[in-house]
Amino acid sequence: MRRYHPGPDFRHAHSIAELAAMAQRRLPNFAWEYLAGGAEEEITLTRNRQAFANIRLLPRTLVPCTGVDTRRTLLNQDLPLPMAIGPTGYNAMLHRDADIHLARAATARGLPFTLSTVSTSSLEQVVAAVPEVNLWFQLYCLRDPKVQEDLLQRASAVGCTTLLLTSDAVLLGNREWDRRNFVRPRQLSLRNKFDVLCHPRWLRQALWPQGMPGVANVERYLPKNQRTAAGAAHFIGAQMDTALDWDALARLRERWPHKLLLKGVLHPADAEKAVNLGLDGIVISNHGGRQLDGVPATVDCLPAIAAVAKGKLSLLLDGGIRRGTDILKACALGADGVLLGRATLYGVTVGGEAGAGHALDLLANELRLALSLLGQPQLDALRADFSTSLTVS
Ligand SMILES: Cc1cc2nc3c(=O)[nH]c(=O)nc-3n(C[C@H](O)[C@H](O)[C@H](O)COP(=O)(O)O)c2cc1C
Repeated sequence: MRRYHPGPDFRHAHSIAELAAMAQRRLPNFAWEYLAGGAEEEITLTRNRQAFANIRLLPRTLVPCTGVDTRRTLLNQDLPLPMAIGPTGYNAMLHRDADIHLARAATARGLPFTLSTVSTSSLEQVVAAVPEVNLWFQLYCLRDPKVQEDLLQRASAVGCTTLLLTSDAVLLGNREWDRRNFVRPRQLSLRNKFDVLCHPRWLRQALWPQGMPGVANVERYLPKNQRTAAGAAHFIGAQMDTALDWDALARLRERWPHKLLLKGVLHPADAEKAVNLGLDGIVISNHGGRQLDGVPATVDCLPAIAAVAKGKLSLLLDGGIRRGTDILKACALGADGVLLGRATLYGVTVGGEAGAGHALDLLANELRLALSLLGQPQLDALRADFSTSLTVS
């Protein structure tokens, strides 16, 4: 049984799990559950990790481990590593200006950063703070076409060339902790208010003095007297377009001239539809186990999707990436790259930009070491040997 005794300094964390343990200590209960929790029984959340553990690595021996090469061309972009920071909302609940910290950490390492529609820093604020950012934007389809059009124009105006439409969260998954911790939208229960007071360090880094962060990206669409965290939560809930379908995606394809990805694909038939629609990529994702509980782990869906879509569009995967070996396994099974969710959020929670950077560096170093130990120092030469059932050699 492994025990983590992380001190308060994130630089002493040797793994993403240690960063997570530090983040858990730093955050009050409601914020920790928001960050780490999944839907219902958390079956899918657990599966995402278990599925990676079930994949065996079969190394070749006597292969010189010089010249390790982790570079990848993804969506016509040359990246030093096959990864990007994925979209997560309400990040300032973890650390003030967390979106900007994440953007800086990614940019310093030549990696893309994806801003969520429900981000706590706006598109404009991120680009003003990190002008050289490789910014991707995640879109939730909103009912009001004017709002959606304005979001697209703003994304274009700040130089976003990659848009991810998230399709698996038009209704919010059944997250019991969310309902338990709040009495009204963004209004903590008494017990959670008390717990917040027991976390002074987090209060200073996130809440003091402005209170619960607002959703900066969409604030301008709210009536002036409703530009609060609660007002934004209500607005987003009411604006989610539950009629989102393939026709809407086809219209978006015509409207958006740059790279367009669909995030939330698990079924190979949907991957084929995405190919036929002329999308540039898909993200094989179950929203980190936060939506429909019981769906398969993303890495278990990957081989069937790769069989129909590999080479026809870019295949990204997220869900449970906590080790360099997870990235290696995903790439060996056909992913062109991975998106990071909680891994970098744990880092930003305990160390802002440097903490997020530490998370990225841990994963990058683990990936390099794993490629060497596997006897496959070139990432692009990785392959899966399906005859031994998901063994990667
Ligand atoms: C706290 C949190 C907030 C998230 N917010 C969004 C969001 O706003 N938009 C979105 O498309 N996905 C969102 N996701 C899902 C992530 O983009 C990603 O699919 C998931 O985190 C990957 O799983 P992992 O965290 O286990 O790596 C969120 C995930 C978390 C943990």
